[in-house]
Amino acid sequence: MRRKRVIGNWKMNGSLAANRALLEELLPQLAVLEGVELAVCPPFPYLAQVAARLEGSGVALGAQNLNVADKGAFTGEVGAGMLRELGCHYVLVGHSERRSLYGEGDEVVAEKFATALRAGLVPVLCVGETQAQRRQGQTEQVVSAQLQAVLRRSGVQGLAAGLIAYEPVWAIGTGETASPEQAQAVHRHIRALLAQHDPVQAEAMPILYGGSVKADNAAALFAQPDIDGGLIGGASLEAAAFAAICQAA
Ligand code: G3H
Repeated sequence: MRRKRVIGNWKMNGSLAANRALLEELLPQLAVLEGVELAVCPPFPYLAQVAARLEGSGVALGAQNLNVADKGAFTGEVGAGMLRELGCHYVLVGHSERRSLYGEGDEVVAEKFATALRAGLVPVLCVGETQAQRRQGQTEQVVSAQLQAVLRRSGVQGLAAGLIAYEPVWAIGTGETASPEQAQAVHRHIRALLAQHDPVQAEAMPILYGGSVKADNAAALFAQPDIDGGLIGGASLEAAAFAAICQAA
């Protein structure tokens, strides 16, 4: 039986004051939830602030990106050891915004995934197709290629030490959610692909859905047999909405 997980990705949002207010309202509502693993991923500058506030809350901390190098002359970049030192448990890798806006290809993403594992972080591998790729019937092919790059680099054991988030690019921040059936079909495909390598790991693998998850569609998505929770963008910035989504998990 896989535990449900909900991870909030704040993206490039927040301020010291807004984060304080959000967590003040949110954490008491999350404290009463049982059986679901929760995390939030603030921007780098707020990791220390949020880490301090999350202490003892049962909500884990995650980062949104990392560099493959430990340290050095990489202006503007952040290493895995730094994230660990600040209390991060998770790190997102291969989010579609990193892939499309910052040119991160499958090989770079696979390298970041391996780097996170080496540092003792739990990487959350984001995969998903664009609208054009879906229209051309390439969804499974695109998602498979994204997964295969990580499987080649880290093996199925490595991949299974992280999480997968299926996020159709056309559903991210658009208000257009994949239907529970559309999402389930891709989640089943992902699990089947992993099962070709290791059926036991495939069965245990948490696969989250992301893309315009809101309070009113979360329950139907999370009820699908291969959907193990969500990676939440916009709605994770509103305490009531995020709490309702966590409750639906
Ligand atoms: O990481 C989160 C996803 O990009 C989903 O974002 O919930 O705003 O559509 P969204």
